[in-house]
Amino acid sequence: MQYVWDNENNRYLDMFGGIVTTGVGHCHPKLVDAATKQLKKLWHTSSVYYNEEVHEYASNLANRLPEPLNNIFFCNSGSEANDIAILMARLYTKSYDIIALRNAYHGDSTSTQPLCGVQSWKFPIPSHFGVHHTTNPDPYSGRFGGNKCRDSVVQTTRDCDCGVDECNACDRYIEDLQQVFDSTLPKTVCAFIAESIQGVGGVVQFPKQFLKRAFQMVRERNGICIMDEVQTGFGRTGTHFWGFEGHEVIPDIVTMAKSIGNGFPLAAVATTASIANTLTSASYFNTFGGNPVRISEFLLL
Ligand SMILES: Cc1ncc(COP(=O)(O)O)c(C=O)c1O
Repeated sequence: MQYVWDNENNRYLDMFGGIVTTGVGHCHPKLVDAATKQLKKLWHTSSVYYNEEVHEYASNLANRLPEPLNNIFFCNSGSEANDIAILMARLYTKSYDIIALRNAYHGDSTSTQPLCGVQSWKFPIPSHFGVHHTTNPDPYSGRFGGNKCRDSVVQTTRDCDCGVDECNACDRYIEDLQQVFDSTLPKTVCAFIAESIQGVGGVVQFPKQFLKRAFQMVRERNGICIMDEVQTGFGRTGTHFWGFEGHEVIPDIVTMAKSIGNGFPLAAVATTASIANTLTSASYFNTFGGNPVRISEFLLL
């Protein structure tokens, strides 16, 4: 299901997977059958009226995540998933400041635009309240890094004199993060958010220990850690179902979109019961979240 055709019937190999979205290809017959069946049964309910499919799918998805990330909330886009993650993080920690990476992309809503660190997505409006960017730990083209930093088959040609289990570049990037903590942040913080491999910013992989060490520093300051798996989730890294598994970390919140819906506007946020509980202090309503047609396709998961 990897081909697409243009209006003159020229066939193309879709190496990009429908903007990294069609994880199992275009018009996969199993998905077409499941969606057709559900279309004939029940086409729409809102997230106010949950249905069997939503429960079953949430439970399947929770089984794919490490404990205690077993509370799932469905929504419509990666941006909305990150909006909800930030909202819950702020309610839970009662802190406001979020640390993001330069070169990150987390969405184009008014609360996710400030998290992005790529200029093409920057509108000239005041937006960055409570968001602090740290140096991107990019060993390939960033300030520090060498040919032993990456666990990718693509290596930088820059030499690296690190010994086994050593990564000087990682140490430098962690020092920059430490400086952000020491200079622009109060003693306690709200959250750290990152993609497990940056997508929009150019498929950037971090030094192996960076996320592990960053998580520890954030947690020491009462913050929580959010992994944006919008591009990397659902097996896209090849070796793991979630990209964060390659970093040996367990986040407090995981956001997902794109491949979860294979082209349908489906997204989700997974977190712990206590963090999810913050959303009960008022109503977070979403008309299309958990639409049964979208969900039905993915009961196949
Ligand atoms: C890592 C990441 N997070 C969030 C988003 C935003 O997702 P959406 O476009 O579904 O709002 C994207 C979209 O490209 C993304 O790549």
